[in-house]
Amino acid sequence: RQKIIIDTDPGQDDAIAIMLALASPQIELLGLIAATGNVPVTQTAENACKILELAQRPDIKVYKGCPRPMRRPPINAQHVHGQTGMDGPTLPTPKHQPEAQHGVSFLLETLANHPEHSITLVTIGPMTNLATALIQAPDVVKRLKQVVAMGGAWSETGNISPAAEFNAFADPDAAAIVLNSGLPVTLVPLDVTHSFLITTDRLQALSALSGTCARAAYEMLTFSSRFDLEKYGWSGAPLHDPCTIGWLLAPQLFTGRNVNVEVEVASPLTLGATVVDWWNVTNRPINAHFLRTVDADQLWALILDGLSRLP
Ligand code: BDR
Ligand code: CA
Repeated sequence: RQKIIIDTDPGQDDAIAIMLALASPQIELLGLIAATGNVPVTQTAENACKILELAQRPDIKVYKGCPRPMRRPPINAQHVHGQTGMDGPTLPTPKHQPEAQHGVSFLLETLANHPEHSITLVTIGPMTNLATALIQAPDVVKRLKQVVAMGGAWSETGNISPAAEFNAFADPDAAAIVLNSGLPVTLVPLDVTHSFLITTDRLQALSALSGTCARAAYEMLTFSSRFDLEKYGWSGAPLHDPCTIGWLLAPQLFTGRNVNVEVEVASPLTLGATVVDWWNVTNRPINAHFLRTVDADQLWALILDGLSRLP
């Protein structure tokens, strides 16, 4: 079983990623760290608790991370995800509460207490918590097996600015620290996720499932799709974050390349842009596995199968 920690800012697509992890016997979820991203961290932590409660997993704990990006003021994506960041279903206030321990401290403690290179960190929000951990205790963070991060864009244009993807843009300094840390990083950018839309057919297949989680997922993705339909004229919202878990479960569904990726941290025009040296024209060191394509039908089948196994 792959041991993972998910650092997340739910987010309807974050919720589906977490549900897929919970449904997969190949994955052992050690905990959730809440990030400041789509909405402030207090709200993302509450949303994470709601997901665990839906899935009846009170054994998994939620840890609040940093309340703001490293150097810049926080932004949010309520225009996409709604007031709560996870609009769609009406979910009760969870009994499950976040732990008192800080998310960065949970990450460092967990890494120290497990064998080296046995834990994967999946980041599906801005990378502030991981970057903070790298500043606090780089040697402990080096015990990670790998980082799998949803973030960045290259051949696909940005979704929060013309140049940048939301997670990279929200904390570009954190993304730059992570990419220059020497950790093995796989990036799942918009190049991949914009080809994985929750189309009407897929939404309909989801509506046929009977569990509480599947129902909530259906309501969340119905909400998400409205934005992309109005804004882009697409048939449905991209399922960004579940691609990270999909990569862990079925890497054969993806293609990518080991490349150098740098993040713009200064220019007001292109802040958060990920510059990918796809053709190795610079000789800069390789620091990431950058994914470019996914077999969307197969990945959707995996998600549907996972959701059908949850309560
Ligand atoms: C990313 O931004 C967030 O709004 C989504 O949850 C996803 O992690 C996509 O750019
Ligand atoms: Ca997210």
